[in-house]
Amino acid sequence: MANTISIYNFKGGVGKTTTAINLGISWAKSFKVLLIDFDPQCNLSNSIAPDHESPTIYEYLKKVMHDHEINPRPEEITPYLHVVPGDLQMTQIESNNQFISFGREMVSKLLMHFHREYDFVIMDCPTNFGVLVKSIIGASRNILIPAIADNFSMTGVKTLMTYLAAVENHSLNILGVYFNMFNNNMNLTAKKFEEAKDLFGSLILENTVSRSIKVGEANDAGESIADYSPDNHAAQDFMKLSDELLAKFNSQSLNPEFILPDLLERMKG
Ligand SMILES: Nc1ncnc2c1ncn2[C@@H]1O[C@H](COP(=O)(O)OP(=O)(O)OP(=O)(O)O)[C@@H](O)[C@H]1O
Ligand SMILES: [Mg+2]
Repeated sequence: MANTISIYNFKGGVGKTTTAINLGISWAKSFKVLLIDFDPQCNLSNSIAPDHESPTIYEYLKKVMHDHEINPRPEEITPYLHVVPGDLQMTQIESNNQFISFGREMVSKLLMHFHREYDFVIMDCPTNFGVLVKSIIGASRNILIPAIADNFSMTGVKTLMTYLAAVENHSLNILGVYFNMFNNNMNLTAKKFEEAKDLFGSLILENTVSRSIKVGEANDAGESIADYSPDNHAAQDFMKLSDELLAKFNSQSLNPEFILPDLLERMKG
């Protein structure tokens, strides 16, 4: 059974798609990985599967909706890295009455068709916290939250946790918040990191990813930063983040500190 991970923050441009691409490519060196692009912007698919010919996420969800048979046929980037491409038509799904009522069940049902084939299913989410995002998070076992220290706020994380609680997925495991585009030399950034660790403890991941122009270049080239520029500091950072997350999966159990109702209670204090 695959580990399902949604990558989400309600702030835009924090590196959700970049994280999905880099973790996906990194983990596909040792595991079988499926990336699903749920964002109608299709940034993930445009980066690593620009010429895809396989069915899109919208086409799969339509089949689920009409109870049609599903034959999973994702795009093969490598034998171990597959992608379900995004689709601009995903903007319509938010106003589909059937999806509004049963979105979570539909995403779960679709995931069932992919579970057995993969070790990890990584889902790139759009930014707005609507029916689609709720359905994706509702159907996920894990969530990873990229954030930027510059615009990181305690209130922002609290709001996000309140949102997550509203999804009512009681088996959701919060892998943690990690800081992307991090500049350790800036006093403000370092201060924000310390403040965040004081307040949220191990919810804040140890590893951060530094800002590098090469990350954007790698995205444009459809590669991970580790393949595109292995000596780059951000490449090293992503590798450490990847290891930190894999260690969490190896521990196999939900971290009791991250159970949402308790977390929300602690944040009130
Ligand atoms: N560590 C980094 N260093 C430099 N640039 C980065 C880094 N991480 C991401 N970027 C760049 O920042 C921009 C936003 O990243 P990305 O698209 O991954 O964010 P997102 O949260 O998915 O955005 P959206 O909300 O639009 O979906 C992109 O141009 C990306 O190349
Ligand atoms: Mg994105």
